[in-house]
Amino acid sequence: MKISTHISHNQSLKAKTLLAFAFAAMLPFGAAQASGGLKVTATNATWQTECSTCHVAYPASLLSAESWKAVMNGLDKHFGTDASVDAAAKKEITAFLEKNASQRRRDAVLSANGKPQLRITETAWFIREHDEVSGRIWKNPLVKSAANCAACHTLAEKGDFNEHNIKMPK
Ligand code: HEC
Ligand code: HEC
Repeated sequence: MKISTHISHNQSLKAKTLLAFAFAAMLPFGAAQASGGLKVTATNATWQTECSTCHVAYPASLLSAESWKAVMNGLDKHFGTDASVDAAAKKEITAFLEKNASQRRRDAVLSANGKPQLRITETAWFIREHDEVSGRIWKNPLVKSAANCAACHTLAEKGDFNEHNIKMPK
């Protein structure tokens, strides 16, 4: 489904130009943003191996360093599962994630209980960026969870979240 079908081509172009500026200002990514989309360039072999078995390896630039530290210190109780890695891998992955984390203050958001935000999908920018996705689509069995990026971002595994590579399940 194309998101912007309700606006005319001209408006759409104008909107795109405006959005290009808006994205530059509002998205937390330190990564390259060719034609308005996120393409993650920062990578690390250990992170790629250990953090992509249950879901796509989430880009480091989508959470703050504080959040990554908290995620990595809680891997034994990781969203209802045990995602522990050995000490050397933990050290390497934590350093990689912290180095490439979002630098923006507003992504260092605290969750309701005052602890660092653990979920990308609960950050303000994620909610704003996805506010056009209807409840029906979120509940689609092919999606199941907002954390299932690859259900819509067809190249998420390659770190490509460009809007042109989105294909929403019907
Ligand atoms: C149900 C489908 C769906 C899921 C699941 C989903 N997204 Fe999206 N995503 C979208 C849509 C739709 C947009 C808006 C595209 C637009 O603005 O045209 C979007 C936009 C984005 C953008 C901005 C893209 C751009 O070109 O500026 C990023 C980055 C992004 N999503 C990351 C993620 C991440 C990370 C996850 C998983 C944690 C995720 N998304 C899960 C549908 C989805
Ligand atoms: C054993 C499986 C498993 C492994 C390995 C794993 N995770 Fe997860 N992870 C999960 C599950 C399950 C969720 C919750 C998914 C959902 O809510 O749909 C999750 C969610 C997350 C989220 C939050 C997604 C959101 O909602 O924004 C982050 C961040 C995350 N994982 C980071 C990591 C990192 C970093 C690693 C590597 C050190 C890792 N995960 C390895 C199972 C795993």
